[in-house]
Amino acid sequence: MTTLRETFYNHTGNLIHKWDHYFEIYEKYFSKYKNKKVNILEIGISHGGSLQMWKKYFGENVNIFAIDVNQECKKHEDDKIKIFIGSQSDVNFLKTVESQLPELDIILDDGGHTMQQQIVSFEQLYLKVKEGGLYIVEDTHSSYWHAFGGGLKNKNSFIEYAKNLIDSLYDSHISNKRSLLINEITKNIYSISYYDSIVVFEKKLRPKPFHIQKGNETITPYKQTELKKKSVFIKIKDKILGEIDTFKANSKGKII
Ligand SMILES: C[S@@+](CC[C@H](N)C(=O)[O-])C[C@H]1O[C@@H](n2cnc3c(N)ncnc32)[C@H](O)[C@@H]1O
Repeated sequence: MTTLRETFYNHTGNLIHKWDHYFEIYEKYFSKYKNKKVNILEIGISHGGSLQMWKKYFGENVNIFAIDVNQECKKHEDDKIKIFIGSQSDVNFLKTVESQLPELDIILDDGGHTMQQQIVSFEQLYLKVKEGGLYIVEDTHSSYWHAFGGGLKNKNSFIEYAKNLIDSLYDSHISNKRSLLINEITKNIYSISYYDSIVVFEKKLRPKPFHIQKGNETITPYKQTELKKKSVFIKIKDKILGEIDTFKANSKGKII
C-alpha cells in the first residue's frame, strides 16, 4: 500500500507544501481510513495540491470538503471536492458551511495559522467531527511566532489554549471545578496529542472513569474501614486546598 510520504514525493500535480515529518504523523492516524468511505474537511487550499494528494491517498470513496478565503480556490472543485469560500475566523460563515456538511471523519486546519483563526475554527467545527474522528491543527509552531499572535507562553496562543484543555481532560479527578472549562467540546475530547507543529484531538465522548481491584488478597473489615477513611480524608483535603488555590488566584495582585 502506498504511504502518504510516497504519495507526496511522487506527486506531480498542483503545488503542495508540507514539512517532511508530518507524513509519519499523518500515516499513523490516516492509514485506517484508506479506501474506506471517509469525509475530510481541509481548511486552507492554496494551490490545491493537498486536495489532490488526499484524493490519491484515501482512494475513490473519499469526500473532500475545503475552505479558503481566496475566491480563486473555487477552481479546484470537482466531483470529489466541494469548496467553500470565506474566512475560517468568521463564525457565521462557518455555521453556513457546517449546515451543508455531513459528519466528518477528519478536520485538518492548514489555513491562515493565526491564533484567532485556529481557535475560532476549532470551537465552531469541533463537534462536526464524528465520534472517533480527528480534529488536527497543522503548523502550530505559529503559536510561538509574534506575527501570528503567538509567542512563548503567550496565553492567547493556540498551544496555550490547547494546554488548558488538558485540565478539562482530567475533570473527573478535580474536586474544585470552578475555574475549569467544561462544555460539550471538552466532554468530547478523548485525547490530545502534541507533536512538533501538529496537535491532534481525538473526538470521542470520555466515559466516566472507574477503577477496580482484581486478585486474591483478603482485605479485613478493619483495613477496609481504614482505607475508606483515608480516601475521604484525601478528598476533603483536596477540596480545601483547591478552595485556597482559587482564593489565591482570585486575589492575585490585591493586598489580602
Ligand atoms: C498553508 S496554505 C494551505 C496549503 C495547502 N493545505 C497545502 O497543503 O498545499 C494556507 C491557505 O490558507 C488560506 N487562508 C488564509 N487565511 C484564511 C482564512 N482566514 N480563512 C480561510 N483560509 C485562509 C490562504 O488563502 C491559503 O490558501
